[in-house]
Amino acid sequence: MTFAESLRAATMPAHEQANHSPFITALLGGELSVDAFAALSSQLYFVYGALEEAAETMRNHPTAGQFVFDELTRIPALRQDMEFYFGPAWEKEIRPLPATEAYCARIREVAATSPEQFVAHHYTRYLGDIAGGQAIRVKLKNLHNITGPGSLFYVFDRIPSPPKFRDNYRELLNTVWTPAEQKSLILESIRAYEHNVAIFTALAGNMPAYQLSPSVD
Ligand code: HEM
Repeated sequence: MTFAESLRAATMPAHEQANHSPFITALLGGELSVDAFAALSSQLYFVYGALEEAAETMRNHPTAGQFVFDELTRIPALRQDMEFYFGPAWEKEIRPLPATEAYCARIREVAATSPEQFVAHHYTRYLGDIAGGQAIRVKLKNLHNITGPGSLFYVFDRIPSPPKFRDNYRELLNTVWTPAEQKSLILESIRAYEHNVAIFTALAGNMPAYQLSPSVD
């Protein structure tokens, strides 16, 4: 088994938990209003702020720096999505949830101390966005007719072939880490999933406000 395969296998239960959390299930099930998508994106704006600052810190690192692909950068897209959802004063309208603050704090902490733990966070978010994140993009289009701003976070227009990109990324994962670093990367990726689940759980607390009323015949 390659390291990328072990990583995928070891994080599969965490992936299932994230993927089947009640907020994501309701979101993908078409039960929630556009405000739920906006709320999720607003939290991701803070997460990617921390992640992309960490990437700048790691850019020249001999191993972690190899994972800093500029074509992944999400903040410019998220800023446009925020303006679409919250208007020109969006920066005053959005706030990180405590669960989001904890996730950002962990990203900042590992960016200062551990290249492989930084890559664990990088892997967990970006590879997920390129794969499963696309399910959210499709829902935004089909349920709410949103294809441009509002969904730009899910559009990787600088990555012509996502499967090829994922293969290259996995190849890189397979080549650069020592066994001890591999172990640490796996544990941190599971932790990254837990942070994501914590955000979904917090957002689920607001689900009654997002719930679309059942259609009346
Ligand atoms: C919205 C619900 C989700 C769906 C439908 C979904 C679906 C998928 C699918 C089908 C793949 C496999 C793609 C492939 O074979 O290359 C995948 C991979 C992945 N997903 Fe998700 N996912 C979801 C949520 C998440 C979340 C919330 C995260 C983490 C925050 C995540 C992280 C990942 C990662 C890291 C991979 C790459 C695994 C690997 O190949 O090593 N996913 N997802």
